[in-house]
Amino acid sequence: MNDNVYQIAIDGPSGSGKSTLAKGAAEKLGIMYLDTGAMYRTCALCAIKSGIDPKDEEAVKDMLGSMDLKIKFEDGIQHMLLNGEDVTGSIRTPEVSMAASAISALPVIRTAMVDMQRKIAADQSFVVDGRDIGSVVLPDARYKFFLTASSEARAKRRCLELEQKGTPQAYEDVLKDIIQRDKQDSERAASPLVKVDDAILIDTSDIGIEETLELLLSYIKE
Ligand code: DC
Repeated sequence: MNDNVYQIAIDGPSGSGKSTLAKGAAEKLGIMYLDTGAMYRTCALCAIKSGIDPKDEEAVKDMLGSMDLKIKFEDGIQHMLLNGEDVTGSIRTPEVSMAASAISALPVIRTAMVDMQRKIAADQSFVVDGRDIGSVVLPDARYKFFLTASSEARAKRRCLELEQKGTPQAYEDVLKDIIQRDKQDSERAASPLVKVDDAILIDTSDIGIEETLELLLSYIKE
């Protein structure tokens, strides 16, 4: 690999601020950003559209054979294409979130997605966010970060986001969803969410996004 090409891995649970931070860091550094969660979400949407249970490994395996998932970067913005259709906007619903958490536990899905992710990040510098980036996808990433925040802080943020999008939801429901997804993502056998020893831990419960970005960039400048 070319020495000028480097990767920054950012892992953490949903709502820890990963994507906003990864996007911000990529912009500041003038490199690309890959949101790997969007890939699992697109697989989940495919299962929903095909009437497949995202936990049914055999059915999902068959689905993979005919699924055409592509990623297109337009002006640095990631678009998800499913069987030729741009689904970037439709993968952010609570239904897709839950199905993504289930489908991403299947090794058959993970193997296919990890392979794509490694190929994408091989020739250009990328900030990549997800759950297993520092541990599995890019174990040799030049910088690794692990973001955390309390479930309550994450639920509050998510509620605000949903409100701004015009699709508000009750705090209690959002919190319940977050706790359930955390459990699924951390307890699954295949590449569970873990902090690797060489990742820098940042707790974002009580600090804003600007401050977190500054903190993250300060490690990179070093
Ligand atoms: O980051 P997100 O909420 O968009 O991720 C959607 C789901 O995909 C989440 O439940 C965990 C899973 N995921 C994963 O298993 N590995 C990744 N690298 C990224 C996301």
